[in-house]
Amino acid sequence: MNIVLGVGGGIAAYKSALLLRLFTEAGHRVTVIPTEASTKFVGAATWEALSRRPVTNDVFDAVDQVNHVRIGHEADLIVVAPATADLLARAAGGHADDLLTTTLLMARGPVLFAPAMHTEMWQHASTQANVATLRSRGVHVLDPAVGRLTGPDTGPGRLPEPEVIFAAAMALVGEGAPAAATPEPEAPGALAGVLAGVRVLITAGGTREPLDPVRYLGNRSSGKQGTALAEAALAAGADVTLIHAPMEVPAPAGAKVQAIETALELRSATLAAAGVADVVIMAAAVADFRPSSISTGKIKKRDHVADPVITLVRNPDILAEVVAHRAALNQTQLIVGFAAETGDDEADASTYAQAKLERKGCDLLVVNEVGPGDTGSERVFGQDSNHVEILALDGASPVQAGGSKREVADAVVQLIAQRLGTG
Ligand code: CTP
Repeated sequence: MNIVLGVGGGIAAYKSALLLRLFTEAGHRVTVIPTEASTKFVGAATWEALSRRPVTNDVFDAVDQVNHVRIGHEADLIVVAPATADLLARAAGGHADDLLTTTLLMARGPVLFAPAMHTEMWQHASTQANVATLRSRGVHVLDPAVGRLTGPDTGPGRLPEPEVIFAAAMALVGEGAPAAATPEPEAPGALAGVLAGVRVLITAGGTREPLDPVRYLGNRSSGKQGTALAEAALAAGADVTLIHAPMEVPAPAGAKVQAIETALELRSATLAAAGVADVVIMAAAVADFRPSSISTGKIKKRDHVADPVITLVRNPDILAEVVAHRAALNQTQLIVGFAAETGDDEADASTYAQAKLERKGCDLLVVNEVGPGDTGSERVFGQDSNHVEILALDGASPVQAGGSKREVADAVVQLIAQRLGTG
């Protein structure tokens, strides 16, 4: 396959060298088009050596071959990584002021942008409007990853890892990523199409609550169950929005993906998206508490000063708020919560789960079965299989499901479809 790899002028340009390697090792012919600015970070010689092909960013090179027309036409796929704010703006505006933007205008195949920039630039209204414009034209724009940026700052803006970009790119051309990165999103025959056109909002991953620029309070959620739900819902034909805190696995291609980090960010993103969702599934592991203040500088140990004490404040209960919003808006919406419960001397896990279901007011609660004397963390977090009991607020009999996280996800999708009357 002929792939064009556009490289924007950001420090993350060096990561595109790894992406290029993934493409060439998978047997693809890659033409690299760096922007002028990007060559300040990685020079043309690096791209020529790695791609074993000539590299230029000048429209007036090889004029006799009408380079921009030829490269654009021949490309089966164009991937731009890193896509800077400026490059997104020029692409959205239809500019043709260098070889990369001109090639983008000539493109006939799918185009994928992997943005990387500081959080403020990503969240700026202009950038968001440019991303929305590109997406409305069918261009695929990944959400940036959340994490450490070039300076001491952290937040959304990191270039997604090369493996994630590679998997998304391959999914666009139907080649599928390596099995480990993206499990096959096939629905069992009975579930194909049961959620056709249904708008499903899923939260996943484990939130992080910053203490200072380099430290956070987190949890052991891997995001595997949430992504399995997204894959199952996509395979059942749903229109899926995935809002996720940091995860160990890539978000599935085909979902509208929004990456967040803290519980408060999850809350605003979820409440905004829930207004237009038919189904909300809260699989994210949300921190119940956050540090009462975030230090602007790294907290240091000092010999003559007492060690710091971290004070926590409570985070809002997002699931309960989604339920309250549904009532306030008089909305018809199915809301599914998740819980990992243990029993103790006073009551068993099911009794605690039933109480949680009633307290939160969601329609279904997917309860991870954690046995007595088992801390549960080893049995649930990061594992590839799961065993759950799904409780219903209306008193319907609990449903048991077990197996791989995808099999559990299929069981949840099936129950949702039954409740919507579509399955
Ligand atoms: N949840 C949420 N907001 C929170 C905490 C949890 O929306 N601040 C959601 C989770 O996404 C999950 C459900 O509530 O769907 C249950 O999470 P869990 O942590 O078990 O609930 P808690 O209310 O924190 O209960 P506990 O006191 O047992 O920790």
